Amino acid sequence: MGEFKRIGILTSGGDCAGLNAVIRAVVLRAVGSYNWEVLGIRQATQGLMVDPPQATVLTPERVDALLTIGGTVLGTTNKGNPFAFPMPDGSLLDRSQEIINGYRKLGLDALIGIGGDGSMAILQQLARQGNWNLVAIPKTIDNDVGITEHSIGFDTAVNTATEALDRLHFTAASHSRVMILEVMGRDAGHIAISAGIAGGADVILIPEIPYSLENVCAKVAERQEQGKNYSLVVISEAVRTEDGEVVTNTNRLGQCRLGGIGEYLADQISACSGAETRVTVLGHVQRGGAPSPLDRLVASAFGVAAVDLIAEGKYDHMVTWQNRQVVSVPIQDAIAQYSAVDPKGTLVKTARGMGIYLGD
Ligand code: F6P
Repeated sequence: MGEFKRIGILTSGGDCAGLNAVIRAVVLRAVGSYNWEVLGIRQATQGLMVDPPQATVLTPERVDALLTIGGTVLGTTNKGNPFAFPMPDGSLLDRSQEIINGYRKLGLDALIGIGGDGSMAILQQLARQGNWNLVAIPKTIDNDVGITEHSIGFDTAVNTATEALDRLHFTAASHSRVMILEVMGRDAGHIAISAGIAGGADVILIPEIPYSLENVCAKVAERQEQGKNYSLVVISEAVRTEDGEVVTNTNRLGQCRLGGIGEYLADQISACSGAETRVTVLGHVQRGGAPSPLDRLVASAFGVAAVDLIAEGKYDHMVTWQNRQVVSVPIQDAIAQYSAVDPKGTLVKTARGMGIYLGD
């Protein structure tokens, strides 16, 4: 048994299914195998910004029931970059030093940060500035973190989107409609292409591959000619209009978010094919719910491996999933290699090989 350590853990960025499963695995490994203490930090780095820092001791008893619970019991935020933190008067303030002080006040020997590429970049900058011992775990339903084949939360989101397609299938056929499912994923089309193939879509549009409305309509028409009275279309939220515009909606506070490309496409398909169209925007349903078995498994493996990296003193590294194994890589390498859908990759070939229209 090595020397005693007190480690912190935080979840940062958008939530997803499987975060609690990682927290559980970290505590079971750190306390059960190494006899360390684990402090759960609340609301990402914001829990370190306040005085006293907002953290709680996590014991195996406290995390016992977390495996199947969605969200994150620690809370999270995808706002408030500490290097340009939005203040009530509208100004932006660098509050990084307050966060660095929070780490010291808690007496941490190391920190496990669970986040996507944006959160990891921020945590790495804090770690360098504050001389922290940081280990990262990738999570995001978008699955766009470089190098790793899985990020926690992606598989559950794909399951949810696939189930939505399975349900839309029957109502589409009953009413002879073209059903359009708009899914999340930001600039990466991983959810759309995975759920689209798994859910038997006829058209899949992703940000990585340009498309033409003429070809989308030709696909719908081809199915009509074959006596198939309905079509299923999956579209990723960051797909642009044919003219290259990103479709967003802005709320009364002026906050702008991706969303609405499904409606655009529905209007275009109605106009060209005469078909009745309906749109389902799946939204945050993809982020919630109990984690799938695969997400639980990856979360457990990542949690154990992250604690082991601390035991080895291998900091500034992120755990990844590669060829059925957990492998650690420098955080910098993961951030540098944004992972989009490969237009020449297996999933694109698979979809096209089955006659799915996928753009170009
Ligand atoms: O990055 C995860 C994600 O769910 C994206 O797929 C989506 O565009 C975005 O976050 C939504 O963010 P918010 O929770 O702020 O609406």
